[in-house]
Amino acid sequence: MADQLLVFDTTLRDGEQSPGASMTCEEKVRIARALERLRVDVIEAGFPIASPDDFKAVKAVAEAITDSRVCGLARALTKDIDRAAEALKPARAGRIHTFIATSPIHMREKLRMSPEAVLEGAVKAVRYARQFTDDVEFSAEDAGRSDPDFLCRIMEAVIAAGARTVNVPDTVGYSVPAQFGELIAMLRNRVPNADQAIFSVHCHNDLGLAVANSLAAVSHGARQVECTINGLGERAGNAALEEIVMAVRTRQDVFGCDTRIETPYIVAASRLVSTITGFAVQPNKAIVGANAFAHEAGIHQDGVIKNRETYEIMRAEDVGWTANRMVLGKHSGRNAFRARLAEIGVTLKDDAALNQAFERFKDLADKKHEIFDEDLQALVSEGVPEAVESVKLVALETASGTGTKPHADIRLVWGGKEHAAHAEGGGPVDAAFRAIEGVVASGAVLQLYAVNAITSGTDAQGEVTVRLERQGRIVNGHGADTDIVLASAKAYLNALNKLFVPDTRTHPQL
Ligand code: KIV
Ligand code: ZN
Repeated sequence: MADQLLVFDTTLRDGEQSPGASMTCEEKVRIARALERLRVDVIEAGFPIASPDDFKAVKAVAEAITDSRVCGLARALTKDIDRAAEALKPARAGRIHTFIATSPIHMREKLRMSPEAVLEGAVKAVRYARQFTDDVEFSAEDAGRSDPDFLCRIMEAVIAAGARTVNVPDTVGYSVPAQFGELIAMLRNRVPNADQAIFSVHCHNDLGLAVANSLAAVSHGARQVECTINGLGERAGNAALEEIVMAVRTRQDVFGCDTRIETPYIVAASRLVSTITGFAVQPNKAIVGANAFAHEAGIHQDGVIKNRETYEIMRAEDVGWTANRMVLGKHSGRNAFRARLAEIGVTLKDDAALNQAFERFKDLADKKHEIFDEDLQALVSEGVPEAVESVKLVALETASGTGTKPHADIRLVWGGKEHAAHAEGGGPVDAAFRAIEGVVASGAVLQLYAVNAITSGTDAQGEVTVRLERQGRIVNGHGADTDIVLASAKAYLNALNKLFVPDTRTHPQL
């Protein structure tokens, strides 16, 4: 039997650290359920000390998940570890992941600590975390740029202190595959107690090498990979779960190991993460991009029809592309609606929430013939507004067309009162955004506007992402509707509501 490669998913923690990708507690639980259905081994649910909301989300994931381990991140500080242990209390199997930077530049410039003090801090943190659980992971942040001898010393010391997983992050995405693979081989050979821990890797994609580096490490004995759905993550992202999983599954002849991932659920998980975060998947993205299994050139199509293996190394259905997705329609009843939500991992908190969601479903089914899982996910996301809705849409009317100056008339509740505004713009979306700003005057700068059709067909819902920036803070807003102007206004208001809530979160790596 092939060796097991453990999959540690950090979409909810490192993925959420990408600017604008913040998720609500309910959204995190929904993604965690999708990860559990995939059979991810470890779900890193967040950084509990970051804020009360982060703590609540890690706790909620710990309560909801039974098959995967649930992990909380903590700097090598007792207050962080206490908070992580508290959040993980309800977990059936919990892991504390503690870390400290080990590269000369991080120790000198960021931590202002000597290597000896860092080593001592790491050992203390691991020992302290072991009081709460047997499952403690230690990460040497910026290991890719750390001194190899120092890395060997610290890994030996933390394993002796009780770390059962030791992680080698390429925090800034500086490594290249041959060298990174050798680093793992060197550590496994030189650390005297290496056999008492699982070696893990955590690669960032700044040079586009995160997956290649992770796989090089696997070839040299790493048996845990840290990754995210769609490669979401800080800056250029983390290694993409779907790419690593399919590489080791397709090329077992090379890697000699496999994961326990249920690959037919990959596409659904990818869509869920992209719907919730508003980070669209590029069409040519491996495994989960819309073109990943599409054959356009006639010559390829001909080959595939004769024998699919001429041009296909994986089957689209093995990653979930051809799953039966048409689920509900106008005549579907409440029970069918509830059952399908349960199948895609959504449980609404009570009957009132179910009734409200069912009303929205009926409205949508009036406008749209077939309702797909993606429509249901968008519908549920919309039903859970920001905790504080400072500004709310009452009504929007727009007009555009040949020979007409596009304009919008909007009514909003803002500051507890209803306001009306009229604006003209380059198009109806521009006019709607100007009308909103005419009321709220947020001073935010529009950094990104993207529309994506959730499903196919001209009656598909448009899913809009709006990214706003104000005083260095970036937020993403989302909106979905069969009318894309309305979806755009919803997305803009969603972003504003996020922006109006002060950000008091602590970033783990600052
Ligand atoms: O990139 C990194 O080093 C991290 C650590 C906290 C594991 O995310
Ligand atoms: Zn990271």
